[in-house]
Amino acid sequence: MCGIFAYLGPRKNAAEFVIHGLTKLEYRGYDSWGVAYDEGIKLGIYRQIGKISDYDPVKTKFPESTMALGHSRWATHGGVTVANAHPHTNSDSTIAIVHNGIIENFDELKKELVDKGYVFKSQTDSEVIAHLINEYCKTMDFEKAAKEAMKRFEGRYAVLAMKAGERKIIAARRGSPLIVGIGNNEYFVASDIPAFLEYTRKVMYLDDNQLVVLNNGTHFFDITTGKPVEKRVVEINWKTESAEKGNFAHFMIKEIMEQKDTIYRAINQEDSEIEKIAEEIKKAYGTFLIGCGTAGKVCLAAEYIFAKVAKRHVNVVVGSEFPSHQDFLKEKSLVIAVSQSGETADTLEAIEVAKKKKSKVLSIVNVEGSTMDRESDYSLHIKAGPEKAVASTKATTSQIAILTLLAYACDGRLQEGKTLLIDTAGKINDMLNPRYEEHIHALAEKIQHHESMYVIGKAVNYAIALEAAIKLQEVSYIHAEGFAGGELKHGPIALISEGTPCIVLVSNGDTRTDILNNAREVKARGGFIIGVAPQNEEVFDYWIKVPDVGIASPIVNIIPIQLLAYHLAVLRQNNPDMPRNLAKSVTVK
Ligand code: F6R
Repeated sequence: MCGIFAYLGPRKNAAEFVIHGLTKLEYRGYDSWGVAYDEGIKLGIYRQIGKISDYDPVKTKFPESTMALGHSRWATHGGVTVANAHPHTNSDSTIAIVHNGIIENFDELKKELVDKGYVFKSQTDSEVIAHLINEYCKTMDFEKAAKEAMKRFEGRYAVLAMKAGERKIIAARRGSPLIVGIGNNEYFVASDIPAFLEYTRKVMYLDDNQLVVLNNGTHFFDITTGKPVEKRVVEINWKTESAEKGNFAHFMIKEIMEQKDTIYRAINQEDSEIEKIAEEIKKAYGTFLIGCGTAGKVCLAAEYIFAKVAKRHVNVVVGSEFPSHQDFLKEKSLVIAVSQSGETADTLEAIEVAKKKKSKVLSIVNVEGSTMDRESDYSLHIKAGPEKAVASTKATTSQIAILTLLAYACDGRLQEGKTLLIDTAGKINDMLNPRYEEHIHALAEKIQHHESMYVIGKAVNYAIALEAAIKLQEVSYIHAEGFAGGELKHGPIALISEGTPCIVLVSNGDTRTDILNNAREVKARGGFIIGVAPQNEEVFDYWIKVPDVGIASPIVNIIPIQLLAYHLAVLRQNNPDMPRNLAKSVTVK
């Protein structure tokens, strides 16, 4: 939620430079944006509603500057207006801040400042930051004032601050991600690495409750104690092109197609590591799988996979609901957090709850160095590479692959699991060809004007039906719902009318007969049956073939739905990479 980025160095076009970096973070928020740059005695401020990628460098030029900070917003407090867009400033625009997260005690701080005569120009929680720093600047220098102010903010935040004429960027983190990039005599600080990946691979991670002062070096401090903290430089090995679209029209389709490789990468783990974690699962007194949105649906799929493969029960709870389950946690419990970004606030809160109860935490994350990665007892990286489209695709299937591998390892059959997943990866490679995509595009053309559609599945495909509905909703904006096939007759079947598209997820095995019967029930009420299945069945009006890969079927069954969602979005003239109202990384509760 919200991307923030600052630059300090010899380049003279700091404002444009920050804007360029922010375009790489736009997936984090895209309803408005802004930049502040140092002009010596005051700061230049430029804010706009809309997407930062619409910025035209020919039309809007900025004066020379070597220090700037900027923000791409996903609104939380206050509507989408220029006044609410960041950066926010003190009254004479000599101090500017950008903020990601929520200042939970902003009401109380605002009251205190209003009583002192401060006038607020926005409806945001963030503006208090600029005014509070200003207040402290009356009796101390900017660096000290910023440090004092940061101590007072409650909630999750990442903040960047600068002052006119002071060659310094101050960046503070409590809960929301912040990473420093070290260039050649220049410094970057951003909520995610792609903002500066073109310029350096040397990074330093801010941990929670830390602040960094960037001037002629990097100086880290603990926010609460004010004491200096030692940090090390980490070399990351991301390729620049993996964070770019290349020849694809959108990141979403690029990332769907990458699934030809990403399953291989996900399962390419040290056997000893997988076995060690499997042992932790086996000896745990209750295993809880936690995730939000798509990651939550992955957890549900894993519940079925663990039951089938390892004959083991795992509990599934969505991140935001997990605190209500804490009474079940014991020291010997294991919490497995599943997350692409490793920064989702609800999942992080679940981890905090687990840690308070002294339970062990395993994270399955894509973003290495993310908060979850660093705050867990164990961590498995799915190695899918940067996922930029808001709708998760390649991370989803990689998470399912790793959890399948763990289930096999729990049953002492790790190599069998690997063989199955390698075979599945090969079949995905065969499947993702242009003819396949055309077949799905043709279906999208057929159903694009429908107002509602449904997805049904049984057992592990029930979890995939729920995930399919998320994919369709978020990028096509068609009302879509997923159900367990058997549940339809208990109510939802009333929603089926003549021609209503209903996707039926089928895999061979003991669930096939039941789910096909459910499909017949829908067809008898006029539903248009789209079958995702290894073979064509008489009940299907439109068949999408998927390979028969046994228990790995959730991986192959979701891919055609990802493609369908993408093509529906494009046909309906939606931007699949940046769906309305959403953000890639949900760092607020
Ligand atoms: C949907 C989607 C979201 C995320 C959710 C959790 O396509 O991407 O539902 O799955 O916000 O995000 P992570 O996995 O980063 O914790």
